[in-house]
Amino acid sequence: MRLVLVGAPGAGKGTMANLISKKFGIPHLSTGDILRNAVSKGAPLGKEAKGYMNRGELVPDPLMVEIVRGEITDSRGASGFVLDGFPRNLRQAEAFEKILIDEGISLDAVIHLRVSREVAVKRLAGRRICSDCGAIYHLTNNPPRKLGVCDKCGGRLYQREDDQEATVKNRFKVYEREARGLIDFYRQKGVLKSFRADEEAKVVFQEIERFLKSLS
Ligand code: AP5
Repeated sequence: MRLVLVGAPGAGKGTMANLISKKFGIPHLSTGDILRNAVSKGAPLGKEAKGYMNRGELVPDPLMVEIVRGEITDSRGASGFVLDGFPRNLRQAEAFEKILIDEGISLDAVIHLRVSREVAVKRLAGRRICSDCGAIYHLTNNPPRKLGVCDKCGGRLYQREDDQEATVKNRFKVYEREARGLIDFYRQKGVLKSFRADEEAKVVFQEIERFLKSLS
């Protein structure tokens, strides 16, 4: 199964992609995680991306397209993928079409998570991430058993730099500017499936799971 998740910051893309990955046994590819990993290692990609990320801007398209091309090539032989964070605009979607054609594959669905700004802002303010395994928590919606410590691996939980209020505002602005063309593109292709993502994670995932089972 080959899936893309789109939606505003805090819509729950990472959370749903993790659940889909576990349930359906397909790799989770996240461009945000790849970039954050490169930043934390001080890799050249991280040095180039860090400023854009901390301002809430998009990292330049050509760089992102090459990263995703590599990821898709590496996932050959796997039973598909769930891609979270890419494409983010029409230019990336068009470049992605070429990658898919080169690989001789196509998308089964583009899952669009629709969330109100109010809910998303609260989610981002309370989000904590494991510095070792990347697991996603929320201080009230999905708290770890021990404050500041990952349940899964014991790693330290941290708050993302781009979850500061001023950056969050800009990330929404960028999303609203860039995503409209992207969503129309996939709607016209007939692969877009929208879900209300304001509900609690378990409820949102049940709806997605039901839909994905209906595809097979
Ligand atoms: P990225 O990491 O992709 O950030 P984003 O798109 O802003 O999305 P988020 O990760 O903030 O939110 P999410 O929808 O994954 O929500 P989550 O599941 O964590 O990208 C970061 C930056 O990298 C970009 O700004 C850009 O600079 C760069 N970048 C990445 N890809 C790029 C690209 N293709 N091109 C250019 N630049 C790129 O959930 C949020 C919180 O809510 C969590 O605490 C979670 O526990 C909680 N939660 C989730 N769902 C629910 C629910 N249903 N109910 C209750 N709580 C929930």
